[in-house]
Amino acid sequence: MAAPPDHSNAKARVTRLLHSGRSDPRVVASPVYHASTVLFRDYAEFEARKAAPLDRDHLYYGRMGLPTTRALEDALMVLDDSVGAVLAPSGVASIASILSAFLKPGDHLLMADSVYGPTRNYCKGTLAQRGVSTTFYDPLMGESIDELVRDNTRLIFMESPGSGTFEVQDVPAIVAVARKRGLLTAIDNTWATPLLFNPLDHGVDLAMQSGTKYLNGHADCLFGVTTTRDQALYERLHRYTLAQGLHLAPDDAMLALRGLRTLAVRLPAHDAAARRVATWLQDQDAVQRLLHPAWDSCPGHANFQRDFSGANGLFAIVARLGDDGALARFIDRLELFGVGFSWGGFESLCLPMELHREHATVPLADDETLLRLHIGLEDPDDLIAELAAAFAAVDA
Ligand SMILES: Cc1ncc(COP(=O)(O)O)c(C=O)c1O
Repeated sequence: MAAPPDHSNAKARVTRLLHSGRSDPRVVASPVYHASTVLFRDYAEFEARKAAPLDRDHLYYGRMGLPTTRALEDALMVLDDSVGAVLAPSGVASIASILSAFLKPGDHLLMADSVYGPTRNYCKGTLAQRGVSTTFYDPLMGESIDELVRDNTRLIFMESPGSGTFEVQDVPAIVAVARKRGLLTAIDNTWATPLLFNPLDHGVDLAMQSGTKYLNGHADCLFGVTTTRDQALYERLHRYTLAQGLHLAPDDAMLALRGLRTLAVRLPAHDAAARRVATWLQDQDAVQRLLHPAWDSCPGHANFQRDFSGANGLFAIVARLGDDGALARFIDRLELFGVGFSWGGFESLCLPMELHREHATVPLADDETLLRLHIGLEDPDDLIAELAAAFAAVDA
């Protein structure tokens, strides 16, 4: 196994992000290598590579990494100062890989109740069938998570802020409990990216992101990544994903790498626009509650203030829109805001959310609707004008 890359130089992370992950020093953008078969020069090289197929300094077989995916891994390791980055074809594939690689029948998992829907489904379906039990913990419980730890608990999986409801967890307190009890910790850090909150700096063992969102930033590819500062954890997860045949296609790796270069300028732009729109929204009669981590109406806001360096374009509102047809009138009045699932691209989105929860951290009355908004890079005045028209359509 090659030594982990040296990230210890003093240049700012964003500078290093731009100058890392180059597979060919002669060109700025890494070429896209489409290859399944890798050729060995002679028998001696074939034998040498067979002895160390995972060596990142060499190629072995297309599924096990090509210059384009290696370049992306290198840049992702710079992003959070990790020793290893395990790529996957989607964020869900990264989540499933963590949960499957580190849990075995008979184990118990502590999973945040506010987790992304398919993650919850994976616990209730695949893991339950395999004999892994899950307790969905209140994302606001912090150090009292200690009371939920059982003899067979192996892993705490966090997601902060939570999906749809944006509860910001006390990650350092949960990590302290995990350390004391000898448990592994993992987090879905898709919302923050390491630029707004670096879980590895807070002692989290495994940090995954759906790169489909802000890392790519252009809504044109899917990928997932898990990083760690623990070489043994990296190797275990890497071997697991290889055994499952998981592979990120080179074209998607190129799109991911291209998006990554502008992450540090896109995030503040989304953040500024979202704060303008959120400020306007909080004064609208229909808006009952703003679920934006930078506002104190958001559960866990104090943790956000303490641990995060900024926000982005994704937040939610609890709205009282009126009669049964009001939601359809509201959504159908939107033109700039698309109605769609993924987020983190350059465009604005609006999505009604359904909650499947065991803890009512964000209670919803029968006549209230949870709307998740992604504020893209459009002029925020245009977005506000459109939202004003949509609220007016509801009142009509
Ligand atoms: C918080 C979070 N995690 C993971 C995922 C899954 O990512 P992907 O669509 O790349 O599988 C999503 C997708 O919406 C998400 O919002």
